[in-house]
This record gives sequence, C-alpha cells and structure tokens, in this order.
Amino acid sequence: MGTTMTRNSLYNAPFFQEMMDTTANLYRLGWDERNGGNISYLLREDELIPYLDVHHVLRTVPMSFDASALSGKYFIVTGSGKYFKNVKRDPAENLGIIRIANDGNSYEILWGFENGGVATSELPTHLMNHMQRLAVDKNHRVIMHCHATHLLAMTFTHSLKEEDFTKTLWEMCTECIVVFPDGIGVIPWIIPGTNEIGEATAEKMKDVRLVLWPHHGVFGAGQSMDEVFGLIETAEKAAQVYTVVCAQGGKKQTITDQQLQDLADAFHVVPREGILNL
Ligand code: 13P
Ligand code: ZN
Repeated sequence: MGTTMTRNSLYNAPFFQEMMDTTANLYRLGWDERNGGNISYLLREDELIPYLDVHHVLRTVPMSFDASALSGKYFIVTGSGKYFKNVKRDPAENLGIIRIANDGNSYEILWGFENGGVATSELPTHLMNHMQRLAVDKNHRVIMHCHATHLLAMTFTHSLKEEDFTKTLWEMCTECIVVFPDGIGVIPWIIPGTNEIGEATAEKMKDVRLVLWPHHGVFGAGQSMDEVFGLIETAEKAAQVYTVVCAQGGKKQTITDQQLQDLADAFHVVPREGILNL
C-alpha cells in the first residue's frame, strides 16, 4: 500500500507570490523592458516540500562553471528571454525551480520552464554572487538584476569611480547612507551572460550588495525579496533625484560629509571607508 502526499498548490507558496509580485513591480516601474532583468531566490527544502516533489527531475541543464559550493541548493529563477510583464499570466512558462546538481556543473529543473525554457542567461553571475554573499552572510537569499533607468543613465554622465558614484548617491537622499553604507560597486563594461562578468560582479559582492554594470543595469543582493528590491529602489531614487538636480542646473547646497557621518552614527551604520572627507 503506497502513501500519497497531498501537496498544496505551488502558486499559493509565499516565495512564489513574491516572485510574481516582484517581477510585476519591476515591469511596472519600467526597469525591465522586454526580457530585461532576472531574479534568483534561494529556497530551503522544507519550504518546497509542501508544494513540490523534489525527487522528480524534469530535465538537467549543463553549466560552464563550477557551482559545487551550491550543490543540492534550490532556487526559483526567472527564465532566459522571458518577459517580466508575462510572469503573472503564465508562471510555468516564465519561471522555474531548479536544484544545483551534485557535480556542481549542471542544474536540475524540478518545475516550470515549460516548452523547453532554461534559467536566465545571467545564471553565472547569479550563482557566483550567491556563493560570494553566502560566504559573508549566512542569511543571504536573493539576487536581483534590472535595468533601473536613472542608474543606467548616470553611467553615461557621471564618473564611474565607485567612490564618486557612491558619494553622489549618498548625497541625493538622506536615507541612502543608512540603506547602503557599504556603497555601490562598479565593474568595467563586459559582455553580459558570460562567466567573466559573473566573476567581476562576484568579486565586488565580497564587500557590497549593489553592483553597477555600466551602460546596462544593476545587481542587488540581500536576505529577502523586499530588502533587495528596497535597496535597488533606494539607489534608483537617488539616481533619479540626481538627474532632476542636474536638469535644474546643479547643486546649490548639499548634505555635507559631516552630516552624512552624523547620519551614519545616528543609525549605527559604518560608512564605507575612503568616501567621506572628514
Ligand atoms: P535573460 O532574459 O536571459 O534573463 O537576460 C536578460 C538580461 O537582462 C540580460 O542581462
Ligand atoms: Zn540585463
């Protein structure tokens, strides 16, 4: 006599709802046109079991880098070439649940990516960032990439030195230094979807949770979907304010370095070294 486990609908899982809401919000804000952007969300096995038979592998997809540090780990991920505007209408076509295989060189599709789809082309960057962030933060769970409009625009008009970029963003909204005291990392322009851009981004992710890809977009990392979304949203708002300030003729006054330090002290955060001139 076999036993059958009744499973709940995956569509009601909290992490599933978060993926649908977040992709919809990124689209609504205009930061993920066409198939732009991708998200990967690390899931615990006990979180998945009520919704999915994790022993049933649909397909295995090879990868061209070593992710063995993540072997056995589960992620819900957006699909390559898929449009965020379509995720809510057809999640099974646009999202997938994967597990990194034991060899660390492939992933197993457990759900989704219907009609032959695969995980985002930025999977190298996502998995390399997950490895890097987990090494410094055991509660890390989410990597998010989007084409945030004003941050992207600033990579054409502003110094790309990360100290300069961080300082400008901190100055544009009082809350910035509190939300990302670690600042923003900037890598050189590199072809997207490659292991090389993944390695360059992950190197930055040792120290920061926000990394800018010049003339392309931004990557964020954090412990929850809200935290990462909020991080990107805050930096993007600062970039928008910067754009408006420039359009209004530039700064006449600003938050001083001493005031930024006072803010950091008041909120018990340590600003990245080498940015404030005190
Ligand atoms: P994917 O559709 O493969 O996720 O790629 C979108 C993107 O933003 C590439 O940087
Ligand atoms: Zn992109």
